[in-house]
Amino acid sequence: MRRAGLDQLDAKPGEKVLEIGFGTGHSLVSLAQSVGPTGRVCGLDLSDGMVATAKSTLLKVGLDGRVELTCGDATRLPYPANGFDAIFISFTLELFDTPEIPAVLAECRRVLRHGGRIAVVGVSKEGEDSFVLRVYEWSHRHFPNLVDCRPIYVQRSVEESGFRIESADRQMMWVPVEIVLGVKPG
Ligand SMILES: C[S@@+](CC[C@H](N)C(=O)[O-])C[C@H]1O[C@@H](n2cnc3c(N)ncnc32)[C@H](O)[C@@H]1O
Repeated sequence: MRRAGLDQLDAKPGEKVLEIGFGTGHSLVSLAQSVGPTGRVCGLDLSDGMVATAKSTLLKVGLDGRVELTCGDATRLPYPANGFDAIFISFTLELFDTPEIPAVLAECRRVLRHGGRIAVVGVSKEGEDSFVLRVYEWSHRHFPNLVDCRPIYVQRSVEESGFRIESADRQMMWVPVEIVLGVKPG
């Protein structure tokens, strides 16, 4: 699913790309390879443990010099306006409270240049009701410390935050996943 999101984003040589919630850093490696030596990748994650893990992932493949890691909160991105060509978010938007999702996406819109792209991969609430989704949501409501995320409306959230939808795909894991590419209007 992450691969499909990275393919949709299609980061190009020389671009400046941001990943929010990079976790262990595997997508940072792909992004750093795609932007090449003339490009730049920034990564932001709330967990200093993930920052340390991602740093060692990048060191192992010799791409640490191309990536700048920051420990921070996506609701307040520490970057200037219009600075990125593309943003990647996978399995992270589902962790935010519902009112925070538009705030995160508004920050993404602020730091993207006009015409810049955002790819979001996330567990989807869209479509038919299913037993698995209901159990998932119930577990999140009752045990939020154990199940810290839940399905969300990915495409709708991206669209309602002022991005033009370029493509939207839906694939099945054990739950449905949306892979959405949006563009900041120019
Ligand atoms: C489920 S992991 C997804 C990791 C990776 N993107 C992937 O697809 O495997 C979610 C990541 O989001 C980070 N995260 C959670 N809340 C955040 C916030 N408010 N700001 C930035 N990152 C956050 C977590 O630390 C974690 O690394």
